[in-house]
Amino acid sequence: MENFNFYSPTEFVFGKDRENETGYYLKKYGAKKVLIHYGSGSVIKSGLLDRVKKSLSDSGIEFTELGGVKPNPRDTKVYEGIELCRRENVDFILSVGGGSCIDSSKAIAAGVPYEGDFWDFYCGKAYVKKALPVGTVLTIAAAGSEGSGGSVITKEEGMLKRSTGSDLLRPKFSILNPALTCTLPPYQTACGAADIMAHVFERYFTNTNNVEITDRLCEAVLLTMIKEVPKVIENPLDYDARANIMWAGTVAHNDIVGVGRSQDWNSHAIEHELSGLYDCAHGAGLAVVMPAWMEYVCDHNVMRMARMAVQVFGCQMDYENPKETALKGIAQFRRFLHDIGLPVNFEELGAKCDDIPTIAKNMGIEGTTGGYVKLTTQDVVNILTIAAKASV
Ligand code: NZQ
Ligand code: ZN
Repeated sequence: MENFNFYSPTEFVFGKDRENETGYYLKKYGAKKVLIHYGSGSVIKSGLLDRVKKSLSDSGIEFTELGGVKPNPRDTKVYEGIELCRRENVDFILSVGGGSCIDSSKAIAAGVPYEGDFWDFYCGKAYVKKALPVGTVLTIAAAGSEGSGGSVITKEEGMLKRSTGSDLLRPKFSILNPALTCTLPPYQTACGAADIMAHVFERYFTNTNNVEITDRLCEAVLLTMIKEVPKVIENPLDYDARANIMWAGTVAHNDIVGVGRSQDWNSHAIEHELSGLYDCAHGAGLAVVMPAWMEYVCDHNVMRMARMAVQVFGCQMDYENPKETALKGIAQFRRFLHDIGLPVNFEELGAKCDDIPTIAKNMGIEGTTGGYVKLTTQDVVNILTIAAKASV
């Protein structure tokens, strides 16, 4: 096991009706003037926004609001938010929505005290040194942004999707009421599930040996997802299944299942190009990319892939031919994604084979990238070619 620091300072406030305590937590973390930031309308339709506003009013907290965050959140909305916060002397950003809304909130939080262009943080020109505090009321189990220091923003011009990360962007508190996710369309639920599983796999495939505790935690989260996700696809109102998935989503990405070992993240890097180019859901892109990546890198450590097949997908170990076992596990993963309603190839995703060289080039790989298997631009072309034609 490698040395590590584990820093997850967010206070998670979990359970039914907990959004009614938003005002209390804002006060606790010193908010005086809040920007309530939300998406394209689901929180208005569900009545959540009104409940949150009431909670703030009851606690005597002033607020202003900015809606309209799109999935794959855009830089244009961030600029609007930064300007509004400066004009209104906002000192705390409250995100009410999903990962896109949280990421946009984090970008605004970093941008307000920064004299330059906030995009500097996303194109590698600058590091976040100061940020307004952020709190969240989460409405979808997926990105894990409610517990992470990451933020992913798309530059409207050229649809360039890029990320940044800083412990300063970890939310002060995140309110997780699983019941809020019951209004999600099944497709969005499934996209979230794929993202959660991908966050674990990015950490599970490691070159660090003997990190049994983290391996086992990863397997536990994956097994939970395999058991609980079909339940909510079948019955969207299943509270306990929603609760298990919601907590799995947070645990999958606050890094507790990744400490003490190297991690990969190439599937995410490849996928961000897809959701940037086609504006598809991140989880849908991962459903296409990740099994293809697994097939491509299988030989790097056949026994690790075979372990995944056995421990997570219940395959029988073939000791004579472990690669067979490994490939069976990958096939089962793809089958699971298909069965919950996700695309597994380019046609189903709405992607074009002709774009493969451009997608690979746009990643801007200098030499190689990735923590498990180092990939070149040509490797990415090969992976996308497998992904393009995959079937169950
Ligand atoms: O905008 P509204 O109207 O709220 O609708 C949203 C949106 O259309 C809808 N939705 C959310 N909660 C709902 C609901 N509809 C009905 N009922 C509810 N309770 O679902 C759609 C998707 O929302 P979005 O916020 O985009 O989903 P998600 O949480 O999957 O976030 C995706 C973004 O997060 C990034 C992705 O790249 C993508 O841009 N990621 C962020 C990470 C991070 N910050 O740590 C890590 C991830 O790997 C990921 O890259
Ligand atoms: Zn993700």
